Amino acid sequence: MTILGDLAIQRQALLRLIPRELSENTMSTKRVVLVMLAPLVFTASLVAQDTVSAKLALTPPMGWNSWNKFACNVSEDMIREMADAMVKSGMKDAGYQYVVIDDCWQVSRDENGNIVADPQRFPSGIKALADYIHSLDLKFGIYSDAGSKTCAGRPGGLGHEYQDALQYAAWGVDYLKYDWCNTTTQHAEASYANIRAALDAAGRPIVLSICEWGKAQPWLWGKEVGGNLWRTTGDIQDRWSGKKEWKPGDCCSYGVVDIIDAEAELYSYAGPGHWNDPDMLEVGNGGMTDVEYRSHFSLWAILAAPLIAGNDLRNMRPEIRDILTNKEVIAINQDPLGMQGRRVSKSGDREVWVKQLKDGRRAVILLNRGPSEQNVVVNWEEIGNPDHLSAAVRDLWQHKELGKFTAKFGATVPSHGVVMVTVTP
Ligand code: GLA
Repeated sequence: MTILGDLAIQRQALLRLIPRELSENTMSTKRVVLVMLAPLVFTASLVAQDTVSAKLALTPPMGWNSWNKFACNVSEDMIREMADAMVKSGMKDAGYQYVVIDDCWQVSRDENGNIVADPQRFPSGIKALADYIHSLDLKFGIYSDAGSKTCAGRPGGLGHEYQDALQYAAWGVDYLKYDWCNTTTQHAEASYANIRAALDAAGRPIVLSICEWGKAQPWLWGKEVGGNLWRTTGDIQDRWSGKKEWKPGDCCSYGVVDIIDAEAELYSYAGPGHWNDPDMLEVGNGGMTDVEYRSHFSLWAILAAPLIAGNDLRNMRPEIRDILTNKEVIAINQDPLGMQGRRVSKSGDREVWVKQLKDGRRAVILLNRGPSEQNVVVNWEEIGNPDHLSAAVRDLWQHKELGKFTAKFGATVPSHGVVMVTVTP
């Protein structure tokens, strides 16, 4: 609905609120009341209209972020090369769009409180970098923090939200990841509502990535405050399983299967414009086998997770590039219905995950978390299809039709591996 349409409806609603004695009175009385209530109408329209943020990220955002591979070692040269590589590797063609600098691009604030980029590492300035990325028809993302300092100790956004948002808009920022370090007594929902309001006031559509690690259950309020994605857990680590404390008493970074366990019950909160974020991809960073990376990517796809690559795109092995650019798997992630996949069965190390697609097909993952290969079976009834149905099964990693199956489909799945298929009635 248009803003004007909204306002017309709100005017009618206000007229209904005016007491009968008044409304039976003269038009001029009505006018006075309307004028008195006008600020309310305006405020309500800001809150209740179809906001810009709700129209962003209608499918899970896809891109690249510097943190998982480079941490604080960021520079304009490296980010440009990564944008070039995103184009040359075929990732842009596969749908990757956002090039995001994570922590450590900023060093201080100037005497007017403006955020200052590291002059040694970003000598041409952030605007020039954003322009370059836009010239490749890609989008540009940046990172800050709701607290006084970022997680790496750089200046945070607290108290500078509107000033920073104006700066980001002037630079051409399209995506903001907003972290949660050094927030002391801040209220998470209010803090993220504040930065969203600041971004909206700056007038540029900017995807808001809430990075609060799931502590205040952002899936319950992230959409309402205009977040487009929200982290559900602590940081991913480049390994298959196991939680690891940052330091004694400070929990944790997570392996792939620990993260999917944390996401499994959150499916109802995801949808177009607002996604659960199980953290960025580790595919290609060296800590897992290719089988495990294929599982990691497949699971993120079926979870309707943002697909934000975190490896060095300039020198990927072909096997890694083939994982990140598998268009059949990406299409499952980007399905316009925007449903997050669910775990529908678990028997020891064997699991079945399903995601309903807009055209009625189902995407299915047969997952083997165990130490040796085993057979994993999906029954049609588990995925909402009748038992007697004869359905076509297509393997999304072999790119091959496997034939028609009635009642169920099973396959041998390697240790830590997946078989990912679509089931077409
Ligand atoms: C936190 C976030 C990470 C990364 C770092 C940067 O740990 O969760 O994704 O942004 O901060 O310091």
